[in-house]
Amino acid sequence: MNNVLVLNGPNLNRLGSREPEVYGSADFAELVSRVQSAAAAEGMTADVRQTNDEAEMVSWLHEAVDSGSQVIINPAAFTHYSYSLRDAAALVTKAGLKLIEVHISNPHSREKFRHNSVISAVATGVIAGFGLESYVLALKAL
Ligand code: DQA
Repeated sequence: MNNVLVLNGPNLNRLGSREPEVYGSADFAELVSRVQSAAAAEGMTADVRQTNDEAEMVSWLHEAVDSGSQVIINPAAFTHYSYSLRDAAALVTKAGLKLIEVHISNPHSREKFRHNSVISAVATGVIAGFGLESYVLALKAL
């Protein structure tokens, strides 16, 4: 079965209580079950992870390259400044694997510092602004 890594960056473990007017009321456990059931509906399995640690996220992208896994990633705040994550994401797409950048909110409608993504240029595609549906749309795209 086709397994996809669904990687989530800092503070996404606080979904539900973190700015619900921006990110909605679902918590991270609900995100995991929504993504896993959407993956099953597409005939896939999803390994859904979250970290607040940039080094751990880089290691997971290396793991994707080594295991030949496609990636859906919400890099959270790393989106806007992490060149190490960008370089690791480039390894994934240069290996011929798809990497889709997702965001729950639409960063372009928010503060200026969120308008730039250092990841997008090396991603296969970007989906933002549809709440948890952003992940479901990314699964369908894969
Ligand atoms: C986010 C948007 C980022 O700007 C922010 O830092 C996040 C979440 C989103 O899913 O909308 O943590 O990636």
